[in-house]
Amino acid sequence: MNLKPKTSNPRPGFIFDLDGVIVDTAKYHYLAWKKLANELGFEFTEEQNELFKGVSRKRCLEILLDIGGITASQEDFDRWMVEKNEDYLAYIENMNESEILPDVPKVLEYLKGKGLPIALGSASKNAQPILEKVKLLGYFDALVDGNNVAKAKPDPEVFLIAAKKLSAKPENCIVFEDAVAGIQAANNVGMASIGIGNVKILSEADYNFNDFTEISLDFLENLIEKTTP
Ligand code: BG6
Ligand code: MG
Repeated sequence: MNLKPKTSNPRPGFIFDLDGVIVDTAKYHYLAWKKLANELGFEFTEEQNELFKGVSRKRCLEILLDIGGITASQEDFDRWMVEKNEDYLAYIENMNESEILPDVPKVLEYLKGKGLPIALGSASKNAQPILEKVKLLGYFDALVDGNNVAKAKPDPEVFLIAAKKLSAKPENCIVFEDAVAGIQAANNVGMASIGIGNVKILSEADYNFNDFTEISLDFLENLIEKTTP
């Protein structure tokens, strides 16, 4: 009789960033920051906006003020944080399923169908209402967002909390990200990183796709096998 204990594959964990991965909100963050920059008398380009992806609201404002060469009082800083968020909230107020990025539901549906755990790992404090608006909240077993973390990406805190909530080891997690800081956060703790967007910007990712339409179910199947040997 073989008394060797049965071993099963480790449990994979799937972690999705929100802005620019699940929904096209990156453009609204950009427009809200651009409006503030213009009001303060300087330009803010889409290229500069790359630095803002995956980065907390507070850190974004610090970078924005650096770009504009502006020193702010605490009072101004707090007011501009509120103003930017109010503008952003106005942009997303009427958001609906039509703003889900192509084929995201296909991938979520596939993972759910296989019983694989899914978490959100986002820097945004507006994550939950957005998932509710686009009716994707039900796919997520865990939500970790800007309200739950102290350290911003590229610190891996957000993804480590997500992995823990999914009962998955970091090395068995797969992260979908559109931000350089997010790819670095995943790489920092040995998670498989999938860059969604421009490969030239996201060259540090383990895998690159322009969007989810390029991700086949075969690719996911192979990736799961490779990540949970
Ligand atoms: C990230 C975005 O998901 O959330 C950043 O990529 C944004 O651009 C950050 O600054 C914080 O978002 P919020 O909604 O809390 O201002
Ligand atoms: Mg993002």
